Amino acid sequence: MKARITGTGSYAPTRVLTNADLERMVATSDEWIRERTGIRERHIAGAGEACSDLAVQAGTRALAAAGLAATDLDIILVATCTGDYPLPATACLVQHQLGATKAAACDLSAACCGFVYALSVADAYVKTGMRHVLVIGSEVMSAITDWTDRNTCVLFGDGAGAAVISASEGEQGILSTHLRSDGNLCGLIAVPGGGSRTPPSEKVIAERMHCIKMKGHETFKVAVRTLEEIARETLAANHLRVEDLDLYVPHQANVRILKAVMERLGLPIEKVMLNLDRYGNTSAASIPMALDEAVRAGRIKDGSLVMLGAFGAGLTWASAMIRW
Ligand SMILES: CC(C)(COP(=O)(O)OP(=O)(O)OC[C@H]1O[C@@H](n2cnc3c(N)ncnc32)[C@H](O)[C@@H]1OP(=O)(O)O)[C@@H](O)C(=O)NCCC(=O)NCCS
Repeated sequence: MKARITGTGSYAPTRVLTNADLERMVATSDEWIRERTGIRERHIAGAGEACSDLAVQAGTRALAAAGLAATDLDIILVATCTGDYPLPATACLVQHQLGATKAAACDLSAACCGFVYALSVADAYVKTGMRHVLVIGSEVMSAITDWTDRNTCVLFGDGAGAAVISASEGEQGILSTHLRSDGNLCGLIAVPGGGSRTPPSEKVIAERMHCIKMKGHETFKVAVRTLEEIARETLAANHLRVEDLDLYVPHQANVRILKAVMERLGLPIEKVMLNLDRYGNTSAASIPMALDEAVRAGRIKDGSLVMLGAFGAGLTWASAMIRW
C-alpha cells in the first residue's frame, strides 16, 4: 500500500506586481532582477485576502481533481509561515471554509520546505491508517516583505498549492521522503520580531523586524549544496539514476541556484519544472503550485517519476521521490 497524490490544485491572487512596478518602489531594474533571479513578475494578495483564502481556493481545486468531497478528508495540513493569525491554526479556518466536518486540522512550519515536510507527514498518516489527507502550501509573503529592502522585496510572491494524498494499492505513490535541518544556520533567513523572543512593539515595527531579513549570498551557496546532496541521497535510496527521472520539481527561489544544481547533477533543463519567472518565491506554496502546473500541462502523467527538492529558512532542506 502506498500514499498516492490523487489530485492537485493551485491558486494565485489576481494582482500582478511586475519588475517595472518594483523599479518605481526601490533602486532596482528589470534587467538586474531577471539576470540575478529569473523572476519577471509575482502575484500579490489583495487587501483583506489572507493565507486561508488562498489555501481554500487551491484546496477546492485539488479536491475536485481527486474527485473527492471535503467530508472525505481525515486531516488537513497547511504548510505556511504567513498564517492568518498566530493562533488558531490556518488549517482550522480552511477546514471550516471547505466544510471538511470529519477532518482534523493543523499547520506545519518549515518555511519553504513546508510542503515537502507536510507531504512526508501525510505519507506516514496514510501508511498508518488514514485514507485521505489534504496538504496545502499557502503563503502571503507580501505581508512579511520589507517593501523598502531591494535585497529581498524583489524575490517573493503570494500563492497556494494543494495536493490530496490517498491510500492506494499498487506501486504508484510516494516512494520516499527525506527531511533535514540545521538550526545553526537559523540566522540566514529570519523574521526576527513579533514572536515570543521579541514580541510586537513600536521598536519591532520601526526597525521592520516583523519582515524577512536574509543573507542572500550565503543562502545561495548553502541552497546549491543542500539541493544537490539531498537529490543524490534520494536517487540512491531508490536505486535510481538522474536519467531515470521524468521531472524534477524544485523550490522556485532563484533560477541561478537551480541551474547550478542541474549542472552538478547532470540534469537537462527540459526535465526541470520552472515557473518562478511568473510567481517568484512563494515559499511553502512554490512546489505544489509548480506541481499542479506540471500536471495540468501534461508534463506529469500516470507512471512519471517525479522528484521534489526544497530548501529554506531554518535552515531546512527536503525531498521526495514519487511514482505518479
Ligand atoms: C538575493 C540574491 C538574488 C542576490 O544576488 P547576488 O548575486 O548574491 O548579489 P549580492 O547579494 O552579491 O549583491 C550584489 C549587488 O547587487 C545589489 N542588489 C541587491 N539587490 C538588488 C536589487 N534588487 N536591484 C539591484 N541591485 C541589487 C547589492 O546591493 C549588491 O551591491 P554592492 O555590490 O554594491 O554591495 C541571491 O543572493 C539569492 O537569490 N540568494 C538566495 C536567496 C534565496 O533563495 N532565499 C530564499 C530561500 S528559500
